[in-house]
Amino acid sequence: MEHSNCGDAEAPNVPPGVKYGGSKPQVFGNRAMRPEEKFEFARVVFFGRGLGEYVDMFNLDLNGLKGQRVLDCAGGPAAFAKEAAQAGIEVVACDPMYAETADKLRHVVDSDAAAVTVKQQANPQTLHTNYVSTSERRKSMEIFLQDFAAAPRGRYVSGRLPTLPFDDNSFDFALSANLLFIYSDIASGGMLESSPLDLEFHLRSTTELLRIARKELRLYPLQGANAKGHAYLAPLMDECTAQGHLASVVPVRQRDLVGAESMLRIVKRAL
Ligand SMILES: C[S@@+](CC[C@H](N)C(=O)[O-])C[C@H]1O[C@@H](n2cnc3c(N)ncnc32)[C@H](O)[C@@H]1O
Repeated sequence: MEHSNCGDAEAPNVPPGVKYGGSKPQVFGNRAMRPEEKFEFARVVFFGRGLGEYVDMFNLDLNGLKGQRVLDCAGGPAAFAKEAAQAGIEVVACDPMYAETADKLRHVVDSDAAAVTVKQQANPQTLHTNYVSTSERRKSMEIFLQDFAAAPRGRYVSGRLPTLPFDDNSFDFALSANLLFIYSDIASGGMLESSPLDLEFHLRSTTELLRIARKELRLYPLQGANAKGHAYLAPLMDECTAQGHLASVVPVRQRDLVGAESMLRIVKRAL
């Protein structure tokens, strides 16, 4: 990690009968936007990125991380754990979907990636022009799918925030990308309809990740699409400060959703 400074937006695969998108029609070009085109979601999607995007989302220094243990939660179908291992970094990825079979995960990845593409194409104004395309990300997800099927011992652990199956201080660092903030409800600054990821969930999840990480926790992004900031950021930072940690918003290199150019870095209080 660099010690000075140490979206996604994805759509769900839409099961029959599930509605997503708000009730008010949006105008897209000269026609009303269909629900599946709106940058809003009915559930958290299973969608992932590669090592390069993790470096950019979290300002990672891969050389500095060699020999460190890193928790990635929610890991999703990201290639980060596999590619980091090749770079000499031990990453354990954790996600509730890892309880599923490799075949099921491949099906969900294909379905969600297709739905994400629809949303991205319908909402170009929400994305930086140089964001990593879904077809590129699909290559990273393929690396994950093959690695998951080979089941390297202990690399992929099924678990669900806000309670994870890891001991106190069992990792040096914890990273959490594209779950907190972005999948809160739309009114708070996220992009999930009727989200269960409320402020209480954010506080409990952050406390849990800080229990497990010995040194530091980083969260990215800090908002959803079309949002100007996030209602949970200040109370979450206040809670971290109250627990004795050092929380700061730090610019990052990642360019995905417009407005999502920072991470939250939480350095744990001295043990
Ligand atoms: C969009 S993916 C992010 C994957 C990866 N971190 C990335 O940025 O490429 C979000 C992931 O959060 C997972 N998820 C949903 N609810 C969760 C929870 N309560 N605890 C942990 N992971 C959760 C989903 O299964 C999904 O894989």
